[in-house]
Amino acid sequence: MKVEPGKPPNNQPSHSFFSSVVVPRPIAFVSTVNEKGQYNAAPFSAFSRLGGSVLAFGISRRGHRKKDTLANIEAVGDFVVNMVDENLAQAMNKASRAFPPEVDEIKETGLTPVKSDKVKSPRIAEAPISIECKLMQTIEVGDTANRHHTIVIGQILLYHIKDEIMTDGNVDHRKAKIIARLGGTDIYCRTTDIFEMRRPNK
Ligand SMILES: Cc1cc2nc3c(=O)[nH]c(=O)nc-3n(C[C@H](O)[C@H](O)[C@H](O)COP(=O)(O)O)c2cc1C
Repeated sequence: MKVEPGKPPNNQPSHSFFSSVVVPRPIAFVSTVNEKGQYNAAPFSAFSRLGGSVLAFGISRRGHRKKDTLANIEAVGDFVVNMVDENLAQAMNKASRAFPPEVDEIKETGLTPVKSDKVKSPRIAEAPISIECKLMQTIEVGDTANRHHTIVIGQILLYHIKDEIMTDGNVDHRKAKIIARLGGTDIYCRTTDIFEMRRPNK
């Protein structure tokens, strides 16, 4: 089957179909602060580390308005990416509701904000991994449906990794139990079904 961008089969919602194509996608549970000092957190799965100390994630518009995460990052210049494990899944999902800007989703979902070391945005205490980032650049992009997205590119300043998910100096994914997104609005996967494969000799 050949499918053009913006034209999903069976007239199903475009977002729902196309989000199931490039998978699995890790979830950046992004915590930020606004200029008044109010905290915010929301999940974004258009996300990856892009090499070196650079990561990026994509934020769509809510109608014509910028989402709170983008407004805060533009105002303050930093953010924290918290990785999501099975314990954090419910809170992450709850935090994705369109709360008004003044609502602190960290508190609202029963999680604990912790002051970061190098940035103004808070990190989330319960996260297995939190990544403090400084805003490098934003890129505005429009897709086929003329929806506007902003790609946020961050420079990684510091990783916080819980000792209990480390084995012999590596992140142990059988312990970390990080989840990822497979598509639609409600399909996720676990990362505990692991196999090894050696790279060919050069
Ligand atoms: C698992 C998951 C992944 C999501 N990924 C994205 C994404 O990549 N880009 C986006 O704009 N919204 C995404 N959302 C929706 C946002 O989390 C949602 O719009 C949220 O209300 C934004 O909050 P804010 O206004 O506080 O920034 C996702 C939601 C969930 C549950």
